[in-house]
Amino acid sequence: MVDQTNKAAFAFLPPIWLEEATSTSTLLKERVAAGAPSGTVLAARRQTQGRGRMGGGWLSAGDGDLTFSFHCRSRQPPLATATLPMACALGVRDFLAMPPWRIATRCKWPNDVLAENAKMCGILTESGATTSGDIGLVVGIGVNVRGVPGRDAAIGRETAAMQDFFPDVGEGAALLPLLLECLEKRIRNWEERGFAGIRGDLEACLWGVGKPVTAKTGSGAVSGTVAGIGVGGELVLLSPDGGTVKVSSVAALDGW
Ligand code: BTN
Repeated sequence: MVDQTNKAAFAFLPPIWLEEATSTSTLLKERVAAGAPSGTVLAARRQTQGRGRMGGGWLSAGDGDLTFSFHCRSRQPPLATATLPMACALGVRDFLAMPPWRIATRCKWPNDVLAENAKMCGILTESGATTSGDIGLVVGIGVNVRGVPGRDAAIGRETAAMQDFFPDVGEGAALLPLLLECLEKRIRNWEERGFAGIRGDLEACLWGVGKPVTAKTGSGAVSGTVAGIGVGGELVLLSPDGGTVKVSSVAALDGW
């Protein structure tokens, strides 16, 4: 789905590391506007003003957490590109399942990754037209490697860090190449097969099936019991009256 005119499969460029950034996504969007190519990765050892989905924040450890953003260019309309963050969530899940840490996780629609119900990874995907007329996607990923006091309050939910499960996990900088490898595999599969290529895996690890939830959308909130994922990546909820409600996967994308 990405770079249809360029037949080369999606590939990450070597990460650009910053000692400190306000928000890697904010800074990368500026670089994309100035022509940074698809595959550019901007990572920060410390992020001071991390942003979350729907105007929320993201608090990372002063050092050693994983906070980075990458650019993926697409010629597809928003409905097709909206499932990219779901492919990324699966990539993060693959990474967390790797030895030696082997952390079991579930994906909470649209793209959170939870360990034992606590959020370990958040993904903020922002999309907008680029000067060339393509859709530019800046995907910002935060993985909690270390614990931070006050993180639950800052994020507004229970959180977990890799270190809670595997104390010798190491530094985010050393982990990034492994994570990028897992992400690249999932993104290439998504490019080749679209959402059909990931739907089965996503449903198999979907958090909350059978639970009552309220899904926030750009225009309000929808409540129901989680039933599954639709063919276009939408969340399918059973409503109290027995009907089904679908929450569009476009709700996964924030404005540029
Ligand atoms: C969320 O779950 O609300 C999404 C959180 C996304 C956080 C990452 S950290 C790297 C990138 N830079 C940001 O400012 N946000 C994203």
